[in-house]
Amino acid sequence: MSATPDEKGIHQWRHVDQFPEQLKKYWFQRFKIWEQYDRGIWMTEDAWFGVTPEPIANKIAAHIAESAPKEKTVIVDAFAGVGGNAIALARSGRWERVFAIEKDPKTMKCAKHNAEIYGVSSKIFWLDGDCFDAINRFAGNKNVVIFASPPWGGTEYGEDNIFDLTKMQPYNLEKLYKSFNKYSNEVVLYLPRNSDLNQIARYAQDGKKLEVAHYAIMGASKALCVYFGDFRFEEEEQEQEKES
Ligand SMILES: C[S@@+](CC[C@H](N)C(=O)[O-])C[C@H]1O[C@@H](n2cnc3c(N)ncnc32)[C@H](O)[C@@H]1O
Repeated sequence: MSATPDEKGIHQWRHVDQFPEQLKKYWFQRFKIWEQYDRGIWMTEDAWFGVTPEPIANKIAAHIAESAPKEKTVIVDAFAGVGGNAIALARSGRWERVFAIEKDPKTMKCAKHNAEIYGVSSKIFWLDGDCFDAINRFAGNKNVVIFASPPWGGTEYGEDNIFDLTKMQPYNLEKLYKSFNKYSNEVVLYLPRNSDLNQIARYAQDGKKLEVAHYAIMGASKALCVYFGDFRFEEEEQEQEKES
């Protein structure tokens, strides 16, 4: 599966000499990002900043699979990018249907190609366009979980500072939560590792816990996921069993 891209802006970098200088650190991380990079992964330059590394995408997919309510059979990846999460969600085998929405056509082309490399292209329903419109097709469908890894507004998240989610660009926490919660009680948001937890806590329903999980590579947190809705994690179930 090594077809070369036939469009400007879509790349299959095979050698460090071809790789853009300003992105060089990603070259050395390419197999951490895509284990099957050498089978001909397609990327855009922008995609390197936002793609979820494969081990993290797999872990998130496993966490969602084990904790989502059993009656939920459909998952939507609202910001599919080049496919990091959508591929992992499809590979988990948990879902009857996986939908992937992406508004940039070149990025979407990469996602479809990368899903072919991982053997799950036909398991994903691809929706071109703006997720805030495309999500309407799930109105009234009670079986849906929404996963969203939005853009965070650049690469400077302030290493030590707390990331203000009210100022996240182009979509802040309020916009994301409200837009997706209309269509599903179960929403997972992938956010900067230094996100303001107090801002997140405001969305917890009365008397209920809101799960936040950090995802790390080599001991360093890369990002966190907030699990809104009725997700049940194993440890929590064990705690409840002990109490009863
Ligand atoms: C952080 S990246 C997602 C990365 C993805 N999880 C992956 O592993 O490849 C965010 C993506 O959202 C897309 N995007 C931004 N606004 C969008 C919108 N309103 N609807 C759909 N896609 C959007 C961008 O083009 C970008 O590809």
